[in-house]
Amino acid sequence: MPDRPSSPDENLQKEFNRWAEAGEGEKMERHHLDITEKTIRLMDLRPGERVLDLGCGAGWATRLLARLVAEGPEGFGQVVGVDVADEMIRRARAASKDFDNVLYAWGSAQQIPWEENFFDKVLSVESFYYYADQERALAELFRVMAPHGRLFILINLYKDNPYSLQWVDKLKVPVHARSEAEYIDLLKRHAFEKVEAQRIPDDTPTPDDYQTTSFHSLEDLRAFKRIGALLLMASKPDLRNPAPGYTIY
Ligand SMILES: C[S@@+](CC[C@H](N)C(=O)[O-])C[C@H]1O[C@@H](n2cnc3c(N)ncnc32)[C@H](O)[C@@H]1O
Repeated sequence: MPDRPSSPDENLQKEFNRWAEAGEGEKMERHHLDITEKTIRLMDLRPGERVLDLGCGAGWATRLLARLVAEGPEGFGQVVGVDVADEMIRRARAASKDFDNVLYAWGSAQQIPWEENFFDKVLSVESFYYYADQERALAELFRVMAPHGRLFILINLYKDNPYSLQWVDKLKVPVHARSEAEYIDLLKRHAFEKVEAQRIPDDTPTPDDYQTTSFHSLEDLRAFKRIGALLLMASKPDLRNPAPGYTIY
């Protein structure tokens, strides 16, 4: 029997396990912290909320979220990190032993391993453009979000930041390079409400001796940071079931 070809998720798992083993999961905190902190401020998190960190990697942002929703007058908040790479999940769990309100689940955005109508807020940092079927991921997000839940997707690789397209050929897995307008249209087609987009510049300085293999030059890297990441925000309407036309996966 010939070998079965790998599925897109198996390819992502393999590639990001390799990143995890090379310590890239932890290193990403340095590159994504500034834009993630700015996004978290916009999330208006409250103690007691249930939050999903989709594509959580080594879990550093999951832990930031967990501190903000932990115990308060409105109860005990919980954060769930989900990632397709089991090696990322293993590292995230090892680094989160001191947290009693964090849980990590190995799984894909294509079939989020969680129940319906659960999460008040969702954060996804630098992960969404890797999802093989972004439409299906949005249907899954809609399913697991609570009515009025709010979604925050941070994307560094998108058409309106032309410098970001310099890395597409360097990646070993396929990615989507859509524009802000295309993403807004996609979210609206998936029945999300209050769809908004914002640019989040990365204000961390780039030293003159910084070595980059991802960009043609340091000037291009600085221009990429100035234009910033695309933050997509959207809400689930007051609906306790999947989006219209939802397929059971
Ligand atoms: C560039 S890393 C970002 C990780 C983390 N959010 C951070 O900022 O450090 C992308 C992450 O998305 C995960 N990922 C890619 N495709 C996925 C999918 N279909 N479902 C869940 N996670 C996925 C990868 O395994 C990887 O950990």
